[in-house]
Amino acid sequence: MYQLKYNIIRRGLILSISSIVIYLLWIYCSYIRDSWYRLPNRASIQMTDQSTKRTDVLLFAYMRGGSTVVGHILGHVSNTFYIYEPLLHESVIGYFLADKVCSIQKDECRYSIEEPSRAIRLLKQNYLCNISGPGLPLMRDKGGPSWQDFAKCTATKASTECEKAIKDNCQKSTFRVSKVLRLSMRMIGQLLEDMDTLKVIFLLRDPRGIMASRQTMGMTFPDSETASESLCKKMYVDCSLANLLEKTYKKRFLKIKYEDIADRPIENAKRMYDFMNYPYTKHDIEMVFSLTQGNATKRAKHWLQEKNTTLIEYVNKYCEQTFEITGYPLRV
Ligand SMILES: *[C@@H]1O[C@H](CO)[C@@H](O)[C@H](O)[C@H]1NC(C)=O
Ligand SMILES: *[C@@H]1O[C@H](CO)[C@@H](O)[C@H](O)[C@H]1NC(C)=O
Ligand SMILES: *[C@@H]1O[C@H](CO)[C@@H](O)[C@H](O)[C@H]1NC(C)=O
Repeated sequence: MYQLKYNIIRRGLILSISSIVIYLLWIYCSYIRDSWYRLPNRASIQMTDQSTKRTDVLLFAYMRGGSTVVGHILGHVSNTFYIYEPLLHESVIGYFLADKVCSIQKDECRYSIEEPSRAIRLLKQNYLCNISGPGLPLMRDKGGPSWQDFAKCTATKASTECEKAIKDNCQKSTFRVSKVLRLSMRMIGQLLEDMDTLKVIFLLRDPRGIMASRQTMGMTFPDSETASESLCKKMYVDCSLANLLEKTYKKRFLKIKYEDIADRPIENAKRMYDFMNYPYTKHDIEMVFSLTQGNATKRAKHWLQEKNTTLIEYVNKYCEQTFEITGYPLRV
């Protein structure tokens, strides 16, 4: 009886083991056959290209919106070339829309097709390491490690004789980071569409903090109310479009708040590095730490302590929709 049962189990076992073996053999053979006939396909070639290609990063921010610190965190690290404010000399107090140049200070625009397209062309050229012009001294001074060769060269030679140092350092960098203040989200949409190497970090800050900082710096022309209106409107339009871009370009668009970076600098720096696929080191994290030690928390939220109610009321008057879309509180 037991013997019989044992035999049946044994046969069953042998049968199932052999069918598993045959099945595995069959899978293996079809794999061999497939790889034998498989031609390298376009998609896989592009994938490998993608992984060795450079990454272009655009930090989109507002003047006095925390972009100096964040630009430093992103641009002063290894294997990275930092392009500081490439559009500064294209339009000192304006920003570019598809067919307009608008004032950063007043709610005013003028029609132009040529200037915005020149700005876009210039940005694309910069990411290809074609960098020259009147912006170079500032880029060198703010550019950090990636501009050291150029800085050394310009100590003894004319700037134009040193441009090779820029090109060389830029071309060997995997990451090319640019901080840009003079754009609209409309133009960011166009750039994301045109450049598949591009990733965008959208740095937000409470507009009351931005305005307070601009006022302290004497940057609110013609007056603080007009400047608040202009900022609130631009920010609202930018943010509406950013919500769409965030959905369309999930892996290439990151929205981040300056206040969050100030509160938790290490955590949020890592978030940005991960977004870029930048392999940060202990040294980078130490840099972030020392950079945010001079109490960035204080700087980001300083205006809440001073609390100029007149100025806050100006911003509140025009920014209601902006607060809603960004999640900043209506009342402080
Ligand atoms: C470099 O950029 C400038 C400005 O956008 C452009 O006029 C010039 O043709 C570019 N040079 C090369 C070699 O692409
Ligand atoms: C920065 O300032 C805030 C508020 O003044 C304080 O709570 C925080 O501990 C300070 N952080 C550092 C690193 O000094
Ligand atoms: C507060 O803001 C108003 C409006 O911009 C300005 O006129 C005033 O000088 C500011 N007050 C202080 C103490 O900074």
